[in-house]
Amino acid sequence: MTVTPASKVLDRVLVLEMVRVTEAAAIHAARLIGRGDEKAADAAAVEAMRAALNELYMDGTVVIGEGERDEAPMLFIGEKVGSAIGTGPKIDIALDPLEGTTITAKAGPNALAVLACAEEGNLLNAPDVYMDKLAVGPGYPEGIISLDRTPTENVKAVAEAKGVRPDEIIVCVLDRPRHAALIEELRAIGCGIQLIPDGDVAGVIATTNEDTGIDIYMGSGGAPEGVLAAAALRCVGGQFNGRLLFRNDDERARARKWGITDLNRIYVLEELAKGDCIFAATGVTDGSLLSGVKQRRNGIMTTESVVMRASSRTVRWVKGEHRKSR
Ligand code: FBP
Repeated sequence: MTVTPASKVLDRVLVLEMVRVTEAAAIHAARLIGRGDEKAADAAAVEAMRAALNELYMDGTVVIGEGERDEAPMLFIGEKVGSAIGTGPKIDIALDPLEGTTITAKAGPNALAVLACAEEGNLLNAPDVYMDKLAVGPGYPEGIISLDRTPTENVKAVAEAKGVRPDEIIVCVLDRPRHAALIEELRAIGCGIQLIPDGDVAGVIATTNEDTGIDIYMGSGGAPEGVLAAAALRCVGGQFNGRLLFRNDDERARARKWGITDLNRIYVLEELAKGDCIFAATGVTDGSLLSGVKQRRNGIMTTESVVMRASSRTVRWVKGEHRKSR
């Protein structure tokens, strides 16, 4: 991986401040874990994340958010956030205050509060359509995976580089009917398949951590989540291919509106998140990346977060104890 120069705009202080933002979203969403109300959990996370972002000294713009202005009242695409609009550093922000709304409502694993930020213009303004995703963690030769190759070819290439048989490779896939053919192909090779109910940001990041056992992430999910996952991989290493998938002309028109002209393009990491970037996440429910928010005795809430930066490749694990209601 090439060395990324540090951005003067992404101040060091901002790196740690970003954790406060994801912590706030996670804590508020956590109050609704297992309550069966996805919308309420999402709304709590959105409101808390927005309030925390507005305390940061920056001239921020949401480039990936809760939806377009007419669909989302808060943290919509294009919304300005920060305490220094017009004067502070210009920062683009991709966010998902609650990645895994259904998981949270059902108290399942791997719900996260996540955001990524970079200098203005450095994050792909991905439309809210599906994206075909393919990812591996660090340590493999560049170009080992490609969406232009079949799943079988990708599994065989990774297996050979890892020094194992293809049937020893574990692939993470979202559990969806649209993945039936992919799953059938992987089963024919004998791969292990970890089917996840939701939360493909965590699924992609899981490939970077050998303890998860997951070698490859495959399958389609939200394009905005693809940009968030790519920002994380820019910081810890790994390879990613993403290709936007369109179900109708309306979705194609959305993409053109965001300046995307080549609708079949395969995006690699640096095309989704360019230059220096920061990725932060706090666990809402327990997962492969982070423990979830826990309500302890004496009113203490604990959180676990990770914040990373592409230029330094520093990964910080932050455990928080929150004593007062936020
Ligand atoms: P939400 O938090 O918006 O519910 O998204 C969860 C998620 O599983 C994402 O991780 C994934 O990218 C997307 O939904 C997949 O979409 P779909 O549920 O339509 O297959």
